[in-house]
Amino acid sequence: MGEEAIVTEKATVLIVEDSAIIRRLIHDQVTKLGYDAREAENGQIALDSMRQSLPDCIILDLMMPVMSGPELLEIMQQDATLKNIPVIVVTALSDMDKIVYCIEHGAADYMQKPFRAQVLRARLASCIDRKKFHDREVVMQHQLEEHNAILEERVKEQVNQITAAQTATIFAMCKMAESRDLDTGEHLERVREFCSVLAKSFLANPNPGEPPPSPGFLDNIRTASALHDIGKVAIPDIVLQKPGKLTMEEFEIMKTHTTNGFNLLANVNNLHPGNTFISMGMEVALSHHERWDGKGYPNSVKDYQIPLSARVMSIADVYDALSHQRCYKKAMTHEESMHIIDDGAGSQFDPYLVDLFFNLQEDLIRIGVEYD
Ligand SMILES: [Fe+2]
Ligand SMILES: [Fe+2]
Repeated sequence: MGEEAIVTEKATVLIVEDSAIIRRLIHDQVTKLGYDAREAENGQIALDSMRQSLPDCIILDLMMPVMSGPELLEIMQQDATLKNIPVIVVTALSDMDKIVYCIEHGAADYMQKPFRAQVLRARLASCIDRKKFHDREVVMQHQLEEHNAILEERVKEQVNQITAAQTATIFAMCKMAESRDLDTGEHLERVREFCSVLAKSFLANPNPGEPPPSPGFLDNIRTASALHDIGKVAIPDIVLQKPGKLTMEEFEIMKTHTTNGFNLLANVNNLHPGNTFISMGMEVALSHHERWDGKGYPNSVKDYQIPLSARVMSIADVYDALSHQRCYKKAMTHEESMHIIDDGAGSQFDPYLVDLFFNLQEDLIRIGVEYD
């Protein structure tokens, strides 16, 4: 916001005139009218004086050495602060062209020399009134902008608080659901972080082979990752918690956790359509067991038919399952787990994402330690 002159009780008039006699004459008339008067003998001196302190009105002669009246007007028009100071042009000539030029270049009014005191009073009063009005408007505009900024900030803060509370609630409920699946511990936290670093890396190194992800992809995958196995709430304990290998029948039941989760979230989506977090939740729930080669479940879709979110999720989920202990198996080392991920590039996993995942090994190890 630029500095603005506010008209105080006693307005200041800057008289710009090269003739000392005429300057003095106008000075006397101006002070008699109750204004403060300042003088400048040419445009340049007037400009310096204005930079020191802004006048409320200018009485400007046209023909002056060093910098003429029209030159000063042009400079003032380029300056956000100076252009709002009203200028009354004074000319001895009945040179209409010059007057028209000055009015076109921002002068508020004009007077022809010699002028009478009543004319000066009327012109000054009208210019200074307009200036006061303008100043008040500027102050109100600034106040309005400040209020709006404060309001916006408060709304943002509240939205953030609500969003953070909702995200934490969703996560807590997912954790509760996941806790039926014995021994998964901090699985959801780690998977969230693995997805985040992989999604960040993808955003920094987009795959030319597919369209860039939608805005909000990173935030959404962070939150939606916790929903990937939400459909397991409908899987009976006898299948979910079975320590040994599942029979074919049991595995068919187990597979339904993808469609169960999808259907659950699709119901939410019907109630609140257009929410990108819910639609990503649907994607990861349905498709995190799909494979790049099309041999996954539930729909056996392949390569780019599998949503990006689910392809990211699948790598994060499998890496975590391998590198951490479960009730039915021991943990592999990071290197062993990465070896299996590498073997799956192009068959189980999106090879482009596997490449990125390999460049994130420091992060993966750090996250593994942090959420052990
Ligand atoms: Fe799953
Ligand atoms: Fe999982």
